[in-house]
Amino acid sequence: MKAIELRNKYLKFFEKHGHKIIPSSPLVPENDPSVLFTTAGMQPLIPYLLGETHPAGKRLTDYQKCLRTDDIEDVGDTGHLTYFEMMGNWSLGDYFKEESIKMSYEFLTTELNIPVERIFVTCFEGDNDCPRDIEAAKVWEKCGIAPERIFFFGKKENWWGPAGTHGPCGPDTEIFYDTGKEKCCKTCNPSCGCGKYLEIWNNVFMQYNKTVDGKYEELKQKNVDTGLGLERATMILQGKNNVFEIEIFKPILEELEKFSSNHDMKSFRIILDHLRASIMLVQDGVRPGNIEQGYILRRLLRRTIRHFKKIGIDIVNLEKIVDNYIDILGELYPELTENKVKIKNVIEEEKNKFIKTLANGEREFNKALVKAQNSNENIIDGQVVFNLYETYGFPPEITSELAKEQGFEVDLNKFNELYKQHQEKSRAGAEQKFKGRFSRKE
Ligand code: ALA
Repeated sequence: MKAIELRNKYLKFFEKHGHKIIPSSPLVPENDPSVLFTTAGMQPLIPYLLGETHPAGKRLTDYQKCLRTDDIEDVGDTGHLTYFEMMGNWSLGDYFKEESIKMSYEFLTTELNIPVERIFVTCFEGDNDCPRDIEAAKVWEKCGIAPERIFFFGKKENWWGPAGTHGPCGPDTEIFYDTGKEKCCKTCNPSCGCGKYLEIWNNVFMQYNKTVDGKYEELKQKNVDTGLGLERATMILQGKNNVFEIEIFKPILEELEKFSSNHDMKSFRIILDHLRASIMLVQDGVRPGNIEQGYILRRLLRRTIRHFKKIGIDIVNLEKIVDNYIDILGELYPELTENKVKIKNVIEEEKNKFIKTLANGEREFNKALVKAQNSNENIIDGQVVFNLYETYGFPPEITSELAKEQGFEVDLNKFNELYKQHQEKSRAGAEQKFKGRFSRKE
């Protein structure tokens, strides 16, 4: 089953169960300046989870474009993605645990034909804030999940939210797919992360509001918030053991392999992930820059370009690859096709800016590396990281990555200090200018 088919099946299923399909919100939240990006399907729905009336009703479903940058260092393994699509269904004070679990079970076993013996689940074990979730476990048993396939864990595993520091949250029940791999050890279970069990769906029972002072208050209404990752679920349904093998990525992966003179799977995956995230960000109005969302986009694009170079692909091929990528992604997001030229231009412009300084920056880095080697140090001075940032436009993680590849660390503390000083100086300069202008006017 292709990703688009899975998405359509999901929305249709929940529509059949009385849910209204609502559109995906943009990647940059419209009314929440406290976060840079939409990181989960529930984020645009926070006011409604807190009790406001949603115009489309109490049962909603959608697919939401999400971007998470906290795992950016892990991109390059078999499953981590910065951009991903989360399908979800919500009850805003309507159904609760029983109906939610039963619908998830029905969808997985009858719509997707996942054999019940492949399904493992986890529930909240209980603590001072919230009791053990016996109710959820009972519903799972009623569905046919044997008790030995139901596990209980604490807040770290089975609690979701709030999305920021405060807001709606609650215990969750997570659904895992058993890949059939050998157990990693005697106590191997869905929480161990060895890869035998893959989390596919999270059903959160949002009945609490975490306050700014860290208390859990009962919400006015009991909600359900679920999230099913499109790429991961597609991978499972296609029997692949790595997300980059599905049809969204595979043709581009093959193209990179064809063009590259130095095959490095980690670099291929970083490019596949970062380039897709960049395309989606540009589509949603972000432009490369030095602050906030723009800086994240700049970092994603510059890292992509650096990895192109690393694996020996001539950078002129970037344009063609972006072109083909947009065609593939256009099946899931038709708006990309309409904006193809605009997206390509933004990426090309950033590429042109960065390639001018990339080679010189690498030369500077190599000089610093030799200096560190000669003085028997295994750390690159923060001043070098700062100069590379300031003069050559190297985001610090690019320098850090270059260093790691040579077995070196970078002094990020010193970098941060220098960066702060630099910002303070620029601010003081700007204020001075403003004052000057002001007094002239007077
Ligand atoms: N909000 C939940 C998650 O992101 C569903 O996993």
